[in-house]
Amino acid sequence: MQTTYKKSGLIEKYRQYLPVSASTPVITLGEGNTPLLQSFNIPKMLGCPTLDLFFKLEGLNPTGSFKDRGMTLAISKAVEEGAKAVICASTGNTSASAAAFATKAGLKCYVLLPHGYVALGKLAQAIHYGAQIIPIKGNFDRALELVRELAEHTPVTVVNSINPYRLEGQKTAAFEVVEHLSRQPDYLCIPVGNAGNICAYWRGFKLYRELGITAAAPRMHGFEAEGSAAIVRGEPIKNPETIGTAIRIGNPASWQEAVRAQQESKGKIDSVTDDEILAAYKMLGSAEGIFCEPSSAASLAGLIKHLSDGTIPQNALVTCVLTGNGLKDPDTAQKVTAVDLTPVEADLASLKKVMAL
Ligand code: F0G
Repeated sequence: MQTTYKKSGLIEKYRQYLPVSASTPVITLGEGNTPLLQSFNIPKMLGCPTLDLFFKLEGLNPTGSFKDRGMTLAISKAVEEGAKAVICASTGNTSASAAAFATKAGLKCYVLLPHGYVALGKLAQAIHYGAQIIPIKGNFDRALELVRELAEHTPVTVVNSINPYRLEGQKTAAFEVVEHLSRQPDYLCIPVGNAGNICAYWRGFKLYRELGITAAAPRMHGFEAEGSAAIVRGEPIKNPETIGTAIRIGNPASWQEAVRAQQESKGKIDSVTDDEILAAYKMLGSAEGIFCEPSSAASLAGLIKHLSDGTIPQNALVTCVLTGNGLKDPDTAQKVTAVDLTPVEADLASLKKVMAL
């Protein structure tokens, strides 16, 4: 039997907007085309029934985060350029994604991780995909400095977002938001860590506006965690701290471009506290059936903050980006919701008793 195989992945879908040619080898794991889910319960819970709220579920990418959008392009270009090995510093998701795409491409992958600050699932992924994992006695910012230095002296390709192809791939998420809504949102709320993704979305929205595909572009509202809010404070933070380990970054690599995105879009970069992040994280699970990782919930936490201080109007069309899958961080999920897991006798009477039936 003959099949007509329709190729999947972002490069095939958006190649006209990406820096690829017909001879670029395409390394894909079927990334992109993630759901944009309408929220009905949260607007009511927030007392804003006229709010038009959508969640972009980036945790449904093949390795469970938005990083796959940039990685398909970065790894494809690395193969095109003859690379044999790639390297990244990571708070976890970049390493999981790099490891998976590198394996698919037959490249060696090195990952530098801040020891003790990478969620269990992300570490498990990098191990499973066969990367060489190097935990360092330092934070993400130090790991990225080391990666930059190493790349100057050794034949390895850096696949952090300082690699120009990463953000080009990630901008496709903005295209998808527009396609799902048939217009641009009024506001895009997004977590900010190393500050690459906010720039990527802005590039995508700007391009669609320039091409006349949309009439306007959304305001970009980025949210750092308070304990690592370098951009908000206007200076690097030496020892960043937050429950959102994915965004525990004190000196964002894309700082300047992120500020430009905020200014050009007339948006705002603000911070949210760990308590606000956790409240939003729990709300997504209990009200919408969405399990994202804690850092991802910074987008909703930020929206709630900006609705209550009037920065975002209550009747706006808003997309919150949920950057990563909650399954990556089972420890935090278990810690933040206390449940009794004592086993009961395996008989009907005992069940009826505990279920209060
Ligand atoms: N959300 C998640 C789940 C992330 O993993 C990251 C970044 C961000 C948000 C912030 O995105 O850096 O583009 O501003 N994670 C990187 C990593 C740093 O190594 O996985 P950003």
